[in-house]
Amino acid sequence: MPCKTNSELETFLKKAKHYTKMGKVADYIPALSKANRDDLSIAIYFPDGKYVSAGNVKEKITLQSISKVLTLALALIQRGEELVFSKVGYEPTGDPFNSIVKLEMSKPSKPLNPMINAGALAVTHMIKGNSVEERFTSILSFIQLLTGNKEIHYSKEVAQSEFETSHLNRSLCYFMKQHGIIDENVEELLDLYTKQCAIEVDCLDLARIGIVFALGGIDPVTKKRIMPAHVARLCKTFMVTCGMYNASGEFAVRVGIPAKSGVSGGILGAVPNRFGIGISGPALDDKGNSVAGVKLLEMLAEKYSLSMF
Ligand code: DON
Repeated sequence: MPCKTNSELETFLKKAKHYTKMGKVADYIPALSKANRDDLSIAIYFPDGKYVSAGNVKEKITLQSISKVLTLALALIQRGEELVFSKVGYEPTGDPFNSIVKLEMSKPSKPLNPMINAGALAVTHMIKGNSVEERFTSILSFIQLLTGNKEIHYSKEVAQSEFETSHLNRSLCYFMKQHGIIDENVEELLDLYTKQCAIEVDCLDLARIGIVFALGGIDPVTKKRIMPAHVARLCKTFMVTCGMYNASGEFAVRVGIPAKSGVSGGILGAVPNRFGIGISGPALDDKGNSVAGVKLLEMLAEKYSLSMF
């Protein structure tokens, strides 16, 4: 097992931290531009409930696209595979996460996978509840369960900032409404989606979610099943094929673990049966992935043979 001590992990963190200088903090959601480009922290959660960490682990970031894999799990639990995949496909795109181009080019006109924005919006559309509030409570409670942390909430500021500026996501929704993928009020769906993306976690929370996926849906502390094994498997598969967007292929070669990134600089990693990894590092590369976070994972993967391939 790698890095059983904080100081061992600290050594890797120090090396990877240099790479933050090569990245840029996301600013297309105005509130995200306040993040510190030089931050980098990591936590690793083991199957026995123990963990190690390095950096400012208490630093909170918003989930952003990492939420997509969690709402996918919840939608699969609530609605089942058949309904979910009638509205969203299984295939990677090779395009940026917010691209609209494939929506029009594929027939039937449904989003190619649940990790791009269009697909994630279609998945959030399927979350059960009679109001935005009820559906958001269902998402938040699921994330509190996955992290074992009842103190998880969302940032009103980040949600509002994205809601006010998310014109591209609005267009994706209107396109999908025209083509019968979604049939709800677009403003309500965006309200729910931007709140889901604004849920705040630290890297220990992310690592704890990672170990649940790594253990096929079992909570490492309570030993209770949180999601069916086939749901965890399906989510991990999407993390491998589309979790790092149009850098997923290179990431699979260099690191080789299921992972999901977000534009706030978070990365959720799951090394099957071994451990969960949570990273926070707001400086992003040109694909929208944490530049130093990816480097850190590359170093760990090489040193401890993490690749599942
Ligand atoms: O919908 C958006 O654009 C953001 N709320 C999430 C995008 C994201 O995190 C892409 N990640 N690399």
